Amino acid sequence: MGEVLDEYMVKGRVAIVTGGGRGIGFAIARQLGRAGSKVAVADIRSDLAEQAVRQLAGEDIEATAVQVDVSSSTSVQEMVGQVVARFGTVDILVNNAGIGPTNPFDSVTEAQWDRTLDINLKSMFLCSKAVYPVMKGQRRGVILNLASMAGRTGGKASAVDYVTSKHGVVGITRSMAMHLGKDGIRANAVAPGIIETEMTAAWEPGKKKSFLENIPAGRLGTAEDVARVALFLCSDAASYLTGVVLDVTGGLVMS
Ligand SMILES: NC(=O)c1ccc[n+]([C@@H]2O[C@H](COP(=O)([O-])OP(=O)(O)OC[C@H]3O[C@@H](n4cnc5c(N)ncnc54)[C@H](O)[C@@H]3O)[C@@H](O)[C@H]2O)c1
Repeated sequence: MGEVLDEYMVKGRVAIVTGGGRGIGFAIARQLGRAGSKVAVADIRSDLAEQAVRQLAGEDIEATAVQVDVSSSTSVQEMVGQVVARFGTVDILVNNAGIGPTNPFDSVTEAQWDRTLDINLKSMFLCSKAVYPVMKGQRRGVILNLASMAGRTGGKASAVDYVTSKHGVVGITRSMAMHLGKDGIRANAVAPGIIETEMTAAWEPGKKKSFLENIPAGRLGTAEDVARVALFLCSDAASYLTGVVLDVTGGLVMS
């Protein structure tokens, strides 16, 4: 019995969660920590990362705060260097950091397009490339990317740059699954629906409600709903899953 449950844990592993300072990223960091992982909470806002680490320490989770801008290769390399110096390796990378613009098509500027693609998509390439030598060297690693319902559909509530970036997340997930499997590395994605975090709190009132009647589960999602699925995908229980994009939408998207 104990051994079966162990497969659903991540005991002794080292995880980096980008954008781990709040929202879905924080919930994933906490879930991985509760399941036995050491966690690096990496966020552009060091105040959020440090606050998160204090909260995790209150649960006896070994965690460290790292300030990073995931859209900068220099910053990302420093992040991985700091985590390896502190914890010795990286077993799990959760590419979660992202921004969620919702403005109309004709108001999206070239600068916004570039920024969103850099933070939401290029970041996944940079972070994954930076941990690759470590994971390849130990022939073990898991990469989990935050896609979105907006990366499976036209993204009713989101801006064109966001929707495009999240479709790109599906692409990079499958490419990494295809090409890194030989190194013992799995790559998967979760595609959340409407989750109650600060990102969606910024939406105009009524927008979230408009989705509700189409959600078979009858409610909006929580960060913890996503975190539980994330833990599963990061654990050995999912050892034969790679290249998968798992919808976590309460049934709003069925594919
Ligand atoms: N909330 C939802 O409904 C929803 C749905 C689908 C997908 N997602 C995805 O889940 C992920 C997390 O979303 P959330 O709702 O928790 O958002 P959030 O805005 O609450 O948290 C995002 C975190 O990322 C950090 N961050 C932003 N830019 C960064 C950068 N350049 N470098 C490092 N950190 C950075 C922020 O400081 C913040 O702590 C995102 O990728 C988002 O697109 C969210």
